[in-house]
Amino acid sequence: MRDLAELPHCEACALSRTRTRVVIGSGPRLPGLLVVGEAPGRHEDEGGEPFVGRSGQLLVRLIRDELGLERSQYFITNVVKCRPPQNRTPRAAEVTACRPWLAAQMERLAPTMVLAVGNVAAKAVFGYTQGIAHTHGRVARCDEVPGVATYHPAAALRGGPNVVDVMRADLRVLRTLGG
Ligand code: URA
Ligand code: SF4
Repeated sequence: MRDLAELPHCEACALSRTRTRVVIGSGPRLPGLLVVGEAPGRHEDEGGEPFVGRSGQLLVRLIRDELGLERSQYFITNVVKCRPPQNRTPRAAEVTACRPWLAAQMERLAPTMVLAVGNVAAKAVFGYTQGIAHTHGRVARCDEVPGVATYHPAAALRGGPNVVDVMRADLRVLRTLGG
């Protein structure tokens, strides 16, 4: 198991050369819910906190509406902890290099449910091989902990209200898991 004390200095993949800082995640020490996105964007790379941009604000609002949880009540992080240049999709090698950090966070945080946000996170968190259109809203397991995948809020910002409705329905599946 990787030592989380070393995460801020990780150089396990090439993203270490272009990042401003490693975005570790934020939230309580023992959250019921762990939310896992794709990778930091520009604002996150600068500020050090995940999901602070527009898509983050939408996600936080949907979680508040459907699960009754404020941002301060769950832990929020990304599968890939350093920003990919120009916000490109993380490469498979980068996801593979970074995934053990999520395993270490899972062990430390001991969440009772996991929400994977977007296609990259859905595959890395739950081991899906199919795309998010096939996998969203199903109950799956990440290191024994139950959870659900949903669309990335950036897709909702592009795709309009339909995607938001699907995300709301996926979050209601998560709610049935309790925790
Ligand atoms: N901000 C994040 O921290 N993660 C994402 O996946 C998108 C925006
Ligand atoms: Fe390390 Fe992950 Fe950053 Fe790559 S993306 S340098 S594996 S923390």
